[in-house]
Amino acid sequence: MTRLNVTVGRTSLKNPIIAGSAEHLIEASGVQRALHAGVGAVVVKSINESDRGKDQLQRAEYMLLDEEWREIPWMPNAPATAFIACRSGLSPQSFEVWLDQAIKLDREAEAADAYAIASLIVADLAQTIAMAKQVEQAGLRVLELNIGTPYASQAKGVVATELDPERVLSIVSAVRQAVKIPLWVKITGQSERVPELAAAAFRAGGEAVVMAGRLLGFIPDVETLQPFLNTTLGVGGHWNLPLTCHWLAVSRQHLGADKPLIATNGARSGLDVARMMLAGGSAVEMSSQVMLRGTTVLSSALEEFDAYLQRKGMTAAGLVGMAADQRKTFPEMPLRTDNWKKYVAL
Ligand SMILES: Cc1cc2nc3c(=O)[nH]c(=O)nc-3n(C[C@H](O)[C@H](O)[C@H](O)COP(=O)(O)O)c2cc1C
Repeated sequence: MTRLNVTVGRTSLKNPIIAGSAEHLIEASGVQRALHAGVGAVVVKSINESDRGKDQLQRAEYMLLDEEWREIPWMPNAPATAFIACRSGLSPQSFEVWLDQAIKLDREAEAADAYAIASLIVADLAQTIAMAKQVEQAGLRVLELNIGTPYASQAKGVVATELDPERVLSIVSAVRQAVKIPLWVKITGQSERVPELAAAAFRAGGEAVVMAGRLLGFIPDVETLQPFLNTTLGVGGHWNLPLTCHWLAVSRQHLGADKPLIATNGARSGLDVARMMLAGGSAVEMSSQVMLRGTTVLSSALEEFDAYLQRKGMTAAGLVGMAADQRKTFPEMPLRTDNWKKYVAL
């Protein structure tokens, strides 16, 4: 074990930073750039069988907002607080082309002691199962199954936003029975039941749970009086980090420390990676900041994270859940009579 090594179920990663799926990982060159940045794994852009998913990508729109909810130019050097609001779709490639590309990328990744991870989004479960089998037969080593996209309520039958643990159980069980490779399940954050959804995914044989997907939002433009991008959008960003960490910590408590969790939603830096691991993540996916600013986000995060471990005399694996395991209940807090008075503006 080196300082940076972590394990996620059966999968050993050279470091816990994963390039999470989005548009910059559609083309092989984008995945290769992420691998060159030194990450432990890259999750390629998701696909499913639906032509409407491909169509949705070609109708997709993206915008960058600042902390005043104003649109700002899409630039790699945008302010650190900038976040993406968008409607996204699925890989525009045919499944055959996507699969062929993914397997070649996973071979390249293997040579760099990393992984290119396949990603399927459920629309029709029978088709997902058929695709999962082909993913395994092609030799891909890990499958991420996304059942927690933000968009199902806005585009029925194209993607999944599973909110019911029973449905999670039946979907993940069906895919688990079809393939033997490590199966990571990405779940929604648009629920009060994130730990229960995660529990169902593990009960069904999921090997790790990625939490928690972006949310739906609606942002009126005060100048045009219209909704930004004319509709409801997928939103996430640095402001979501405390929510991600909360779900990680609560899920770890609910499920036990032996159930690997992977963080997504809100990581911008190596210290954010540390925060999400202290909350219970065994690894951390970084996505929208990489799409916006490029893969230097990944290499800088790795460098900052390693420097942090050295400064603290810690290993990455040793960090996992440390803060989560110190979490106390409200009644355990000491009495602080009239403390609130110090916090009221005069
Ligand atoms: C434009 C865009 C496209 C995305 N596409 C996918 C996708 O195809 N599959 C997937 O599992 N997640 C997808 N995501 C979600 C990201 O992988 C990630 O979970 C989410 O953006 C939160 O993490 P972040 O704060 O690091 O961006 C997408 C996100 C964005 C912004």
